[in-house]
Amino acid sequence: MRPLSARPAFEGRGPGRSPGSGSGDPVTVLPTALDPHAPEYAANRAAMLAKLADLDAEHAKALAGGGEKYVARHRERGKLLARERIELLLDPDTPFLELSPLAAWGSASPEYAVGASMVTGIGVVEGVECLITATDPTVRGGASNPWTLKKALRANEIAYANRLPCISLVESGGADLPSQKEIFIPGGALFRDLTRLSAAGIPTIAVVFGNSTAGGAYIPGMSDHTIMIKERSKVFLGGPPLVKMATGEESDDESLGGAEMHARTSGLADYFALDEHDALRQARRVVARLNWRKAQADPAQAPAEPPKYDEEELAGIVPGDLKVPFDPREVIARIVDASDFDEFKPLYGSSLVTGWARLLGHPLGILANAQGVLFSAESQKAAQFIQLANQRDIPLLFLHNTTGYMVGKEYEQGGIIKHGAMMINAVSNSRVPHLSVLMGASYGAGHYGMCGRAYDPRFLFAWPSSKSAVMGPQQLAGVLSIVARASAAAKGQPYDDEADAGLRAMVEQQIEAESLPMFLSGRLYDDGVIDPRDTRTVLGLCLSAIHTAPVEGARGGFGVFRM
Ligand code: COA
Repeated sequence: MRPLSARPAFEGRGPGRSPGSGSGDPVTVLPTALDPHAPEYAANRAAMLAKLADLDAEHAKALAGGGEKYVARHRERGKLLARERIELLLDPDTPFLELSPLAAWGSASPEYAVGASMVTGIGVVEGVECLITATDPTVRGGASNPWTLKKALRANEIAYANRLPCISLVESGGADLPSQKEIFIPGGALFRDLTRLSAAGIPTIAVVFGNSTAGGAYIPGMSDHTIMIKERSKVFLGGPPLVKMATGEESDDESLGGAEMHARTSGLADYFALDEHDALRQARRVVARLNWRKAQADPAQAPAEPPKYDEEELAGIVPGDLKVPFDPREVIARIVDASDFDEFKPLYGSSLVTGWARLLGHPLGILANAQGVLFSAESQKAAQFIQLANQRDIPLLFLHNTTGYMVGKEYEQGGIIKHGAMMINAVSNSRVPHLSVLMGASYGAGHYGMCGRAYDPRFLFAWPSSKSAVMGPQQLAGVLSIVARASAAAKGQPYDDEADAGLRAMVEQQIEAESLPMFLSGRLYDDGVIDPRDTRTVLGLCLSAIHTAPVEGARGGFGVFRM
């Protein structure tokens, strides 16, 4: 078998080819050319495992919260950690899809803790998929910094788009006061979102484990259901010192904002819990009584047939050097049910693979970059395929490995702008849910056409091997250098080649660092960096959550397609 990286093109692998495994398989089962014994496979896998080890180390920082000292103090107070609260809330032995665990990664001056003092994710409570947020009181009292705010707003967006009931587990010092200028004004959106979720009929539930002061008081204040804990919850607009300053009144935490007062007197607490476990039990009972039904029934095909090939091999597909192409069908074959894939237009625009499959029973249209570059044919094919998915109400998965749209005289004259615009139009106005996974490169307008972050995919995940930027670091540094050289020539000034080489190296290094998935995840440009081997599971959880809301494609409503 020829090594993966040496395969020239992926021609002739459309429908009608012979099946790759088992004599009884339909012809639409993808064959494989991946050789787990080839040196290329071993090198790809080693590169991926090294990146995964780095990723694990960063995830461990998020898990450590505020560190040993604050975790120990929290426990001494008889309190559960944020993740323990979530675990007790969820149905036993059900998964939790944690989102944005690397939020705030790479933040500097001030540096905020990895994870941004909040845990968010999707989990099942009393059989209902819910969006759960939990502030982490071991990190600066659970106070919200600019990255916490971005993370919380993203969680609300996910709840809204997918109609997931929202459960907030609150214990927070409110706004991180030194960074108030970054959060006070945009932070109002948090409370706006709560009431908009409620107005859309999406249940909101707040469980208050400790402090929830000032603006934080509007979380229980604006949730549909509120649970408070005896001698623990503190919910007031201003604490005793502030009240003393404002009005001279002497008061204490309990009479101003304790659970008992809110349950008996103000009526803000709907449920009075004796301790944290009781509060979580009561939260589960609230969900049990929501009478919540998904808009789309679970797939009839359950249990779904697993892929024919080992998911473990997903770690050995992407080359360490992204300039080396790889066949995305090898990925598709390891994530879709029974590796069964009906390819659409396999002989046309072959640098983009399009086709139909199922993933854990859910129908799915897939667009995956093959050779990296998007030409006119690929763009037109993508636009047609996206329209078809909208006609049939089928969600779309975008598997990124693109350096962008083709440049050059021949392609400009051939209308690459019009055709790229057509694809971007289709992606922008498509109304079926989109999922994006950055496997390798995701550069330039190719990132947009493949449903990058700004195109509102319901979920976007990156593999540790991915890179995303306006263009590759070398190209970007080279363009800057050409522009600088031309500018010097225009002014009649000499050009310092030595300084240019130094500048190019520096720019390359900076762009490379800014293209890496941990950096981008830290800025909330994805919903998490995942192990390629978990892709099927993660996408399956997303697709299940997505089907809580109706899946309805756009029948019209696209902009003017420039032909
Ligand atoms: N902004 C910035 N830092 C905060 C903070 C906030 N809102 N709340 C707490 N912190 C910091 C503390 O300064 C402390 O830092 P340090 O360890 O470097 O000294 C750390 O977080 C832990 O706070 P601490 O007070 O020791 O924890 P606690 O568990 O005993 O109390 C609170 C937590 C939230 C009850 C308490 O810190 C508090 O009342 N904070 C202010 C609440 C407030 O009024 N917020 C305004 C909201 S708009």
